[in-house]
Amino acid sequence: MRHFLDIDDLAPEDVRAILDEAHARKAARQGWPKGRVDRDAPLSGHVLAAIFEKNSTRTRVSFDAAMRQLGGATLTMDAATSQLGRGESIADTARVLSRMVDVIALRAHSHQSLVELAHYASVPVINALTDFSHPCQILADLMTLEEAGIMLKGARIAWSGDGNNVLTSFIHAAGKLGFEVAAACPAGFQPNPAVVDKGRAAGAVVHLYDDPAQAVAGADCVVTDTWVSMGDTNVGERMQALGPYQVNEDLMAKANSGAIFLHCLPAHRGEEVTDAVMDGPQSRIFDEAENRIHAQKAVLTWCLGQGTHA
Ligand code: CP
Ligand code: NVA
Repeated sequence: MRHFLDIDDLAPEDVRAILDEAHARKAARQGWPKGRVDRDAPLSGHVLAAIFEKNSTRTRVSFDAAMRQLGGATLTMDAATSQLGRGESIADTARVLSRMVDVIALRAHSHQSLVELAHYASVPVINALTDFSHPCQILADLMTLEEAGIMLKGARIAWSGDGNNVLTSFIHAAGKLGFEVAAACPAGFQPNPAVVDKGRAAGAVVHLYDDPAQAVAGADCVVTDTWVSMGDTNVGERMQALGPYQVNEDLMAKANSGAIFLHCLPAHRGEEVTDAVMDGPQSRIFDEAENRIHAQKAVLTWCLGQGTHA
């Protein structure tokens, strides 16, 4: 069975195949109404249960749109109004849902909940974000880079800000596709050292800096994310430490001239990124958001063995 928990669990050829599937499905439905089903309707008759323990706009809508376009259906649930919110175990929830749906996506506070769900489920489980990682997001980001004409192999992707779950998934993907990650994060907000060590041991090139200018030098892409992720509590400390890591026009000017800007969104304009960068000529943030649908379709078909590329 194919779960999609983290990009570092996948073979490089599977990551490549998922990206190819996403590009192909996007190209095949240019200009169509968003709810029209793809010609091959590969997930006809299939149902996804998407469970959210935390807020979501893009992930929630893109999973639903993705399943409709694949010919299937989605049940969107949240922990608060299901029995999970009253203490039913993840293990029992996994076993029950596996009798009712064909695939499950979970956005969880704790990555351990996702691992447990996958352990007890008898259908594929997809990571819709945890405190540890956000692999669906990174597939959309990599698609967006390729659409901008940036070849992933040998590319330099700079990160300035909090060393969070989104950065973890970039590091997971780096070794699979041959791009380098250059991350500038303040002391105390560096990326997870176990992720960096494991990534490097698997061949990923990961550079860590204190200074954002060093990270963006020679970069093909500059990425950042909120300074306060869902579940973070030390807001004052974060705002103070991360202030110098803001992505603004001065920082973008230090990257390669053709560099693009990405942000998974939601953004806190004026904090981790300025309006001028968000709305500027190098920004690809709304292509990136749209690509969540196309990337998720590729993940769903891959998990269910219905992809045309893998
Ligand atoms: N980027 C992302 O995952 O957005 P949502 O939190 O809105 O799903
Ligand atoms: N790092 C952010 C990403 C939101 C899509 C969070 O976990 O809240």
